[in-house]
Amino acid sequence: MWPKHSELIVLFALLYSVEKVNDYQYEFTNVNCTTLDKDFADFEYCYLKSVNRSYKYMSIKVNLFKTPITKVKFRAMVFKRFSGYRPFMFNITVDACRFLRNTKSNPIAAYFLDFLKPYSNMNHSCPFNHDLILDKLDINFVNHQLTKVLPFPEGDYLLETHWIAYEINRAVVKVYGTLS
Ligand SMILES: *[C@@H]1O[C@H](CO)[C@@H](O)[C@H](O)[C@H]1NC(C)=O
Ligand SMILES: *[C@@H]1O[C@H](CO)[C@@H](O)[C@H](O)[C@H]1NC(C)=O
Ligand SMILES: *[C@@H]1O[C@H](CO)[C@@H](O)[C@H](O)[C@H]1NC(C)=O
Ligand SMILES: *[C@@H]1O[C@H](CO)[C@@H](O)[C@H](O)[C@H]1NC(C)=O
Repeated sequence: MWPKHSELIVLFALLYSVEKVNDYQYEFTNVNCTTLDKDFADFEYCYLKSVNRSYKYMSIKVNLFKTPITKVKFRAMVFKRFSGYRPFMFNITVDACRFLRNTKSNPIAAYFLDFLKPYSNMNHSCPFNHDLILDKLDINFVNHQLTKVLPFPEGDYLLETHWIAYEINRAVVKVYGTLS
């Protein structure tokens, strides 16, 4: 169904080889969290923070008002900026409850989950009966994921995620960043 991990590596190797291979770095530039249903979920906070030159992080907390939540889909779309933002390689929709029971079932979703795992309380299967927290996602860790684990080409990126509960889109989180 999804490309195999090995196929992705080849794809990225090709993409990467036509780009300048530099010592490049990722920077967050903006984050925007929007609830589409305030009775279902709302953001307590959602921000980027620069502690100093080498330590920057992102924190998000979502309050859930209709717990327990037993049916969740997660959609992740990556856009890369050319003249405007255009879809770039990834547009995945995952049944989160099923995926979280067996994270080996989908390598691409697992790659995205890896970003959150060390910093969040979402690393378990359904139901979700508590607020969701992403606590100080470290830019250095994101940087490692995007330049070493699966090297993205340089550019401006937007990661747009949709949080869909019971087939209704409840919230949108957009993370803007630059690899340069
Ligand atoms: C966040 O996104 C929403 C919906 O796209 C938009 O209405 C809002 O102005 C944005 N907020 C910021 C701070 O960019
Ligand atoms: C940046 O802040 C972190 C966390 O407070 C600290 O551990 C680190 O030493 C600081 N780095 C510099 C270069 O000041
Ligand atoms: C991603 O896929 C979803 C579901 O197939 C579709 O509704 C959406 O328009 C797609 N987004 C982009 C940017 O192509
Ligand atoms: C979180 O993920 C790790 C690595 O995939 C897994 O071994 C661990 O069991 C998970 N933790 C929980 C609480 O599910």
